[in-house]
Amino acid sequence: MVGTSQFTSLQMRTWDTLSSLAWLVEAGADESIQDSPSNRLMPDGVHRNEPQTSSAPLDQREVSSNSDRSPLISSGSVTMVPNTEEAHLSAAASRNLDQLRLAVEAFDGCGLKRTAMNTVFADGNPHADLMLMGEAPGAEEDRKGLPFVGAAGHLLDRMLAAIDRDRTSAYISNILFWRPPGNRNPTNEEIALCLPFVRRHIALVRPRVLVLVGGIAAKTLLNRSEGITRLRGKWYKYCPDDSGVPVDATAIFHPAFLLRKGHQKRETWQDLISIRARLTDPKVFEGDK
Ligand code: URA
Repeated sequence: MVGTSQFTSLQMRTWDTLSSLAWLVEAGADESIQDSPSNRLMPDGVHRNEPQTSSAPLDQREVSSNSDRSPLISSGSVTMVPNTEEAHLSAAASRNLDQLRLAVEAFDGCGLKRTAMNTVFADGNPHADLMLMGEAPGAEEDRKGLPFVGAAGHLLDRMLAAIDRDRTSAYISNILFWRPPGNRNPTNEEIALCLPFVRRHIALVRPRVLVLVGGIAAKTLLNRSEGITRLRGKWYKYCPDDSGVPVDATAIFHPAFLLRKGHQKRETWQDLISIRARLTDPKVFEGDK
Protein backbone atom coordinates (compact mmCIF):
# COMPACT_ATOMS: atom_id res chain seq x y z
CA MET A 1 0.00 0.00 0.00
CA VAL A 2 1.25 3.49 -0.79
CA GLY A 3 0.96 5.84 2.18
CA THR A 4 -0.05 9.48 1.77
CA SER A 5 3.44 10.77 2.42
CA GLN A 6 4.97 8.23 -0.05
CA PHE A 7 2.37 9.13 -2.65
CA THR A 8 3.17 12.78 -2.22
CA SER A 9 6.89 12.16 -2.68
CA LEU A 10 6.16 10.07 -5.80
CA GLN A 11 4.08 12.92 -7.16
CA MET A 12 6.83 15.34 -6.26
CA ARG A 13 9.42 13.29 -8.13
CA THR A 14 7.16 13.06 -11.19
CA TRP A 15 6.64 16.80 -11.02
CA ASP A 16 10.41 17.39 -10.72
CA THR A 17 11.06 15.18 -13.75
CA LEU A 18 8.38 16.91 -15.82
CA SER A 19 9.52 20.39 -14.88
CA SER A 20 13.18 19.46 -15.61
CA LEU A 21 12.08 18.19 -19.00
CA ALA A 22 10.09 21.37 -19.67
CA TRP A 23 13.14 23.40 -18.66
CA LEU A 24 15.37 21.44 -21.06
CA VAL A 25 12.90 21.90 -23.94
CA GLU A 26 12.71 25.61 -23.12
CA ALA A 27 16.53 25.74 -23.23
CA GLY A 28 16.57 24.28 -26.75
CA ALA A 29 16.97 20.51 -26.23
CA ASP A 30 14.92 18.80 -28.92
CA GLU A 31 15.88 15.14 -28.51
CA SER A 32 17.63 12.74 -26.17
CA ILE A 33 20.88 11.44 -27.56
CA GLN A 34 21.74 8.84 -24.92
CA ASP A 35 19.54 6.15 -23.44
CA SER A 36 21.03 6.59 -20.00
CA PRO A 37 22.54 9.60 -18.27
CA SER A 38 26.34 9.77 -18.09
CA ASN A 39 28.26 10.94 -15.06
CA ARG A 40 30.61 13.56 -16.42
CA LEU A 41 32.46 13.74 -13.09
CA MET A 42 33.72 10.17 -13.50
CA PRO A 43 37.47 10.09 -14.21
CA ASP A 44 37.25 7.92 -17.34
CA GLY A 45 37.75 10.96 -19.57
CA VAL A 46 35.40 9.55 -22.18
CA HIS A 47 33.33 12.70 -22.38
CA ARG A 48 36.02 15.24 -21.64
CA ASN A 49 36.73 16.09 -25.25
CA GLU A 50 33.16 16.35 -26.40
CA PRO A 51 32.60 19.60 -28.27
CA GLN A 52 30.47 22.37 -26.87
CA THR A 53 26.78 22.24 -27.68
CA SER A 54 25.34 25.40 -29.15
CA SER A 55 22.10 26.41 -27.48
CA ALA A 56 20.76 27.75 -30.77
CA PRO A 57 19.54 25.37 -33.48
CA LEU A 58 21.93 25.02 -36.42
CA ASP A 59 19.38 26.75 -38.59
CA GLN A 60 19.69 29.84 -36.41
CA ARG A 61 23.38 29.98 -35.63
CA GLU A 62 25.69 32.62 -37.02
CA VAL A 63 28.74 31.01 -38.48
CA SER A 64 31.57 33.19 -37.33
CA SER A 65 34.11 30.91 -35.66
CA ASN A 66 37.66 31.51 -36.82
CA SER A 67 38.88 28.13 -35.68
CA ASP A 68 41.48 26.31 -37.74
CA ARG A 69 39.82 23.90 -40.14
CA SER A 70 42.97 21.97 -40.96
CA PRO A 71 42.93 18.23 -40.36
CA LEU A 72 45.28 18.66 -37.39
CA ILE A 73 43.21 18.68 -34.24
CA SER A 74 44.58 20.15 -31.07
CA SER A 75 43.23 18.50 -27.93
CA GLY A 76 44.96 20.04 -24.95
CA SER A 77 48.67 19.39 -25.34
CA VAL A 78 48.18 16.43 -27.73
CA THR A 79 47.84 16.96 -31.47
CA MET A 80 45.78 14.27 -33.15
CA VAL A 81 45.57 13.55 -36.85
CA PRO A 82 42.19 12.05 -37.70
CA ASN A 83 42.47 8.85 -39.66
CA THR A 84 41.02 9.95 -42.95
CA GLU A 85 42.69 7.23 -45.00
CA GLU A 86 39.60 5.04 -45.23
CA ALA A 87 37.54 8.05 -46.32
CA HIS A 88 40.16 8.98 -48.95
CA LEU A 89 40.31 5.44 -50.35
CA SER A 90 36.56 5.00 -50.37
CA ALA A 91 35.93 8.40 -51.98
CA ALA A 92 38.62 7.86 -54.62
CA ALA A 93 37.18 4.44 -55.51
CA SER A 94 33.75 5.96 -56.24
CA ARG A 95 33.48 6.33 -60.00
CA ASN A 96 30.07 8.03 -60.06
CA LEU A 97 27.53 9.71 -57.76
CA ASP A 98 25.60 6.51 -57.04
CA GLN A 99 28.79 4.82 -55.90
CA LEU A 100 29.76 7.86 -53.85
CA ARG A 101 26.37 7.92 -52.12
CA LEU A 102 26.73 4.23 -51.26
CA ALA A 103 30.29 4.81 -50.05
CA VAL A 104 29.17 7.65 -47.76
CA GLU A 105 26.29 5.56 -46.43
CA ALA A 106 28.65 2.66 -45.74
CA PHE A 107 31.30 4.81 -44.07
CA ASP A 108 31.37 4.24 -40.30
CA GLY A 109 34.43 6.36 -39.55
CA CYS A 110 32.55 9.50 -38.55
CA GLY A 111 30.89 9.30 -35.15
CA LEU A 112 28.05 11.60 -36.22
CA LYS A 113 26.50 8.70 -38.09
CA ARG A 114 25.77 6.91 -34.82
CA THR A 115 23.45 9.61 -33.53
CA ALA A 116 21.86 10.62 -36.84
CA MET A 117 18.63 9.12 -38.16
CA ASN A 118 19.62 9.40 -41.81
CA THR A 119 22.58 10.07 -44.05
CA VAL A 120 21.87 13.33 -45.89
CA PHE A 121 23.67 13.12 -49.22
CA ALA A 122 22.17 15.59 -51.68
CA ASP A 123 19.08 16.93 -53.36
CA GLY A 124 18.37 18.52 -56.71
CA ASN A 125 19.75 17.97 -60.18
CA PRO A 126 23.31 16.58 -60.28
CA HIS A 127 23.59 17.66 -63.94
CA ALA A 128 22.89 21.30 -63.08
CA ASP A 129 25.64 23.87 -63.62
CA LEU A 130 25.06 25.26 -60.12
CA MET A 131 26.05 23.38 -56.94
CA LEU A 132 25.49 24.65 -53.40
CA MET A 133 27.40 23.34 -50.39
CA GLY A 134 25.98 24.02 -46.95
CA GLU A 135 27.19 23.09 -43.49
CA ALA A 136 25.32 20.17 -41.92
CA PRO A 137 21.83 18.72 -41.73
CA GLY A 138 19.54 20.02 -38.99
CA ALA A 139 16.64 18.20 -37.34
CA GLU A 140 14.27 18.38 -40.30
CA GLU A 141 16.97 17.35 -42.77
CA ASP A 142 17.94 14.43 -40.53
CA ARG A 143 14.32 13.26 -40.37
CA LYS A 144 13.79 13.49 -44.12
CA GLY A 145 17.29 12.55 -45.32
CA LEU A 146 17.42 15.63 -47.55
CA PRO A 147 19.47 18.83 -47.29
CA PHE A 148 17.94 22.25 -46.67
CA VAL A 149 14.33 21.29 -46.07
CA GLY A 150 13.81 23.22 -42.80
CA ALA A 151 13.30 26.95 -42.28
CA ALA A 152 16.74 27.85 -43.70
CA GLY A 153 16.06 25.58 -46.66
CA HIS A 154 12.84 27.40 -47.45
CA LEU A 155 14.72 30.68 -47.55
CA LEU A 156 17.41 29.08 -49.70
CA ASP A 157 14.68 27.99 -52.13
CA ARG A 158 13.43 31.59 -52.27
CA MET A 159 16.97 32.84 -52.87
CA LEU A 160 17.32 30.38 -55.75
CA ALA A 161 13.94 31.44 -57.14
CA ALA A 162 15.22 35.04 -57.20
CA ILE A 163 17.76 33.95 -59.84
CA ASP A 164 15.24 31.72 -61.64
CA ARG A 165 16.56 28.49 -60.17
CA ASP A 166 15.03 25.67 -58.18
CA ARG A 167 15.99 22.13 -57.27
CA THR A 168 15.58 20.99 -60.86
CA SER A 169 18.27 23.45 -61.93
CA ALA A 170 20.57 23.37 -58.89
CA TYR A 171 22.25 20.63 -56.88
CA ILE A 172 22.50 20.91 -53.08
CA SER A 173 24.62 19.15 -50.48
CA ASN A 174 26.52 19.81 -47.23
CA ILE A 175 30.09 19.40 -46.03
CA LEU A 176 28.76 17.01 -43.35
CA PHE A 177 26.50 14.10 -44.18
CA TRP A 178 25.06 13.62 -40.71
CA ARG A 179 23.41 15.93 -38.22
CA PRO A 180 25.61 16.89 -35.28
CA PRO A 181 23.58 15.91 -32.19
CA GLY A 182 21.58 18.79 -30.79
CA ASN A 183 22.86 20.92 -33.70
CA ARG A 184 26.18 21.47 -32.00
CA ASN A 185 29.11 22.81 -34.00
CA PRO A 186 30.85 20.08 -36.01
CA THR A 187 34.35 19.31 -34.76
CA ASN A 188 37.38 19.72 -36.98
CA GLU A 189 37.78 15.95 -36.92
CA GLU A 190 34.24 15.36 -38.18
CA ILE A 191 34.80 17.89 -40.94
CA ALA A 192 38.13 16.31 -41.90
CA LEU A 193 36.57 12.83 -42.03
CA CYS A 194 33.81 13.96 -44.43
CA LEU A 195 36.07 16.15 -46.56
CA PRO A 196 37.44 13.46 -48.94
CA PHE A 197 33.83 12.56 -49.86
CA VAL A 198 32.89 16.23 -50.23
CA ARG A 199 35.81 16.93 -52.58
CA ARG A 200 34.99 13.83 -54.62
CA HIS A 201 31.35 14.92 -54.70
CA ILE A 202 32.30 18.27 -56.24
CA ALA A 203 34.80 16.62 -58.60
CA LEU A 204 32.15 14.19 -59.89
CA VAL A 205 29.50 16.90 -60.35
CA ARG A 206 32.00 19.48 -61.64
CA PRO A 207 29.50 22.35 -61.62
CA ARG A 208 30.17 25.53 -63.53
CA VAL A 209 29.58 27.48 -60.31
CA LEU A 210 30.02 26.29 -56.73
CA VAL A 211 28.32 28.33 -54.00
CA LEU A 212 29.55 27.83 -50.44
CA VAL A 213 26.68 28.52 -48.12
CA GLY A 214 27.81 29.97 -44.79
CA GLY A 215 31.12 30.49 -43.05
CA ILE A 216 31.95 26.91 -42.11
CA ALA A 217 31.53 25.57 -45.65
CA ALA A 218 33.44 28.56 -47.06
CA LYS A 219 36.35 28.37 -44.62
CA THR A 220 36.65 24.61 -44.95
CA LEU A 221 36.65 24.40 -48.73
CA LEU A 222 38.58 27.59 -49.40
CA ASN A 223 41.01 26.70 -46.60
CA ARG A 224 40.78 30.21 -45.22
CA SER A 225 40.53 31.53 -41.70
CA GLU A 226 38.48 34.69 -42.35
CA GLY A 227 34.79 34.83 -41.51
CA ILE A 228 31.98 34.82 -44.04
CA THR A 229 31.69 38.63 -44.01
CA ARG A 230 35.13 38.84 -45.60
CA LEU A 231 34.87 35.74 -47.77
CA ARG A 232 31.53 36.53 -49.46
CA GLY A 233 31.25 38.80 -52.49
CA LYS A 234 34.40 37.43 -54.18
CA TRP A 235 35.16 34.68 -56.67
CA TYR A 236 37.68 31.92 -56.11
CA LYS A 237 39.16 29.08 -58.11
CA TYR A 238 38.44 25.87 -56.23
CA CYS A 239 40.28 22.65 -57.17
CA PRO A 240 38.32 19.61 -55.97
CA ASP A 241 40.97 17.14 -57.18
CA ASP A 242 44.51 16.88 -58.53
CA SER A 243 43.49 17.61 -62.13
CA GLY A 244 44.43 21.25 -61.64
CA VAL A 245 41.20 22.28 -63.38
CA PRO A 246 39.38 24.63 -61.01
CA VAL A 247 35.72 25.35 -60.45
CA ASP A 248 34.46 28.93 -60.04
CA ALA A 249 33.42 29.29 -56.41
CA THR A 250 31.91 31.98 -54.26
CA ALA A 251 30.50 32.22 -50.74
CA ILE A 252 27.23 33.62 -49.44
CA PHE A 253 25.71 34.22 -46.02
CA HIS A 254 23.92 31.19 -44.64
CA PRO A 255 20.13 31.57 -44.93
CA ALA A 256 19.82 30.67 -41.22
CA PHE A 257 21.93 33.75 -40.49
CA LEU A 258 19.79 35.85 -42.83
CA LEU A 259 16.67 34.71 -41.00
CA ARG A 260 18.08 36.37 -37.91
CA LYS A 261 19.95 39.31 -39.49
CA GLY A 262 17.67 40.61 -42.18
CA HIS A 263 19.86 43.63 -42.87
CA GLN A 264 22.43 41.41 -44.63
CA LYS A 265 19.86 40.60 -47.31
CA ARG A 266 21.07 43.49 -49.51
CA GLU A 267 24.59 42.00 -49.77
CA THR A 268 23.06 38.60 -50.45
CA TRP A 269 20.99 40.05 -53.26
CA GLN A 270 24.21 41.44 -54.80
CA ASP A 271 25.84 38.01 -54.40
CA LEU A 272 22.90 36.32 -56.12
CA ILE A 273 23.09 38.76 -59.04
CA SER A 274 26.80 37.99 -59.35
CA ILE A 275 26.10 34.23 -59.32
CA ARG A 276 23.47 34.62 -62.01
CA ALA A 277 25.85 36.68 -64.16
CA ARG A 278 28.60 34.10 -63.75
CA LEU A 279 26.23 31.32 -64.76
CA THR A 280 24.99 33.26 -67.75
CA ASP A 281 28.36 34.22 -69.16
CA PRO A 282 31.40 32.94 -67.26
CA LYS A 283 33.79 34.10 -70.02
CA VAL A 284 33.38 37.79 -69.26
CA PHE A 285 35.05 37.27 -65.89
CA GLU A 286 38.81 37.45 -66.06
CA GLY A 287 41.41 38.02 -63.41
CA ASP A 288 39.60 36.33 -60.54
CA LYS A 289 41.45 35.40 -57.39
N1 URA B 1 21.76 24.14 -42.75
C1 URA B 1 22.71 23.61 -43.56
O1 URA B 1 23.82 24.12 -43.64
N2 URA B 1 22.39 22.54 -44.27
C2 URA B 1 21.18 21.97 -44.23
O2 URA B 1 20.98 20.98 -44.93
C3 URA B 1 20.23 22.55 -43.41
C4 URA B 1 20.52 23.64 -42.67
